[in-house]
Amino acid sequence: MVNHFCHGYDRLANHYHLLEKMMFGERLKDARTVLLDAIPTCESALVLGDGNGQLLEALLTSQTTCQITSVDQSERMLELQQKRLADHPSRKNVTWLHRDAKTWNGSDQKFDLVVAAFFLDCFTRQELAAHLPDWINALRPGGHFYFVDFQEPERGWKRLRGKLYLTLMHQFFRWQTDLPNRRLVNMTEILDQFDLHLLRSKNMHHDLICARLYRNLAEDRSRDGQ
Ligand SMILES: C[S@@+](CC[C@H](N)C(=O)[O-])C[C@H]1O[C@@H](n2cnc3c(N)ncnc32)[C@H](O)[C@@H]1O
Repeated sequence: MVNHFCHGYDRLANHYHLLEKMMFGERLKDARTVLLDAIPTCESALVLGDGNGQLLEALLTSQTTCQITSVDQSERMLELQQKRLADHPSRKNVTWLHRDAKTWNGSDQKFDLVVAAFFLDCFTRQELAAHLPDWINALRPGGHFYFVDFQEPERGWKRLRGKLYLTLMHQFFRWQTDLPNRRLVNMTEILDQFDLHLLRSKNMHHDLICARLYRNLAEDRSRDGQ
């Protein structure tokens, strides 16, 4: 079911870490984990498209009792995640799902935490309009959404530099992974449409990367009878 469209990331998986290091050094690694400490203790988490599992490993270490479901459409990426966590003391807390996240049904299980790092930028605006609501709906009321991704810096030399990086990356990923999106979607604009409250936000790498922690407001609304 998944195979016809996951060749790209399967092909890229073995070199992903090296490519990341060459292009960004430690910056993506730092960005992935920068707000992890701000996430309260969670019993359950859904991690979307975690690739070779760098954030998954950090999450498992910081949330020792959390049951984590890691979904990725690339079989090879999931193998790398399993290899990375082979000796991790909390490895049994992870369930791996080889699945296209676009088939996720938001009315299924609810999680305390949903994590999307460098994942939402794989999708077009139309795809996000269709599927992001399901991913956000996977949050229980009052749950947390942890988002890390690229963004277009707002102005000046940072913007020019950012656009250059983003153009190069999009062309590379389109060539390697057959992803349909041609440009970065403005995620702030899109996430602002959800019932989410921004708790923490951090811009990094000259504003090219942002990390954000949101809280799902549904609980507060239902408690207030709104
Ligand atoms: C750009 S990589 C990011 C990996 C990782 N989160 C990181 O921080 O480096 C995108 C990941 O999302 C996965 N992915 C892309 N589209 C997907 C989809 N529709 N369903 C599930 N996983 C998907 C890819 O296989 C890949 O592992």
